[in-house]
Amino acid sequence: MNATTGHAIAPHATASHAPSLPRVTTPASSLPAWLIDELRSDHAGETGAVMIYRGILAVSHDAGVRSFSERHKATEQGHLDLLEAVLPPAQRSRLLPIWRVAGWLTGAIPALFGPRAVYATIDAVETFVDHHYQAQIDRLDAEGIHPDIRALLDHCRLEEVHHRDEARDLGDAPPNAALRLWSRLVGAGSAAAVSAARRL
Ligand SMILES: [Fe+2]
Ligand SMILES: [Fe+2]
Repeated sequence: MNATTGHAIAPHATASHAPSLPRVTTPASSLPAWLIDELRSDHAGETGAVMIYRGILAVSHDAGVRSFSERHKATEQGHLDLLEAVLPPAQRSRLLPIWRVAGWLTGAIPALFGPRAVYATIDAVETFVDHHYQAQIDRLDAEGIHPDIRALLDHCRLEEVHHRDEARDLGDAPPNAALRLWSRLVGAGSAAAVSAARRL
């Protein structure tokens, strides 16, 4: 159930690239502490992801970038709704205002430089997020626990991979040195944000 609306959470209504999603029935109180920490970082990341697209849309006038961003923003909002249904407010990151600003800037800054910079940024972010979700899925598999949470994480991961591939296809030329540096910065920033959001 969504804590705000009281409605059961279903996969987001936008075109899905992931298999259909069973409902999560496990209460957060029965999840292991490590998984709560990971879900806190996932929730922070999806909060930031929605803001990345808001940042892009605040700056970019490119029709292709805008339609890409509107579609992706809807998918990221779907991921955020799914995580909000699993992770109670008391367990969410206390640094959410920071993740919102950081996300917005991560979208708005490349949007100042044009479509190639936007697509390279999304490629870098989604490459990171794919590995981030996969590591959690691998640990759930190793421990043989919580198949409902595993399904939720894999649903999100597959949509992130689709975002990454779409951005990679649209970024039609190899990135220059400045863009490669920016992409590395985005990857390192994402890793730092995840480790902070696991704890705070
Ligand atoms: Fe997402
Ligand atoms: Fe995504």
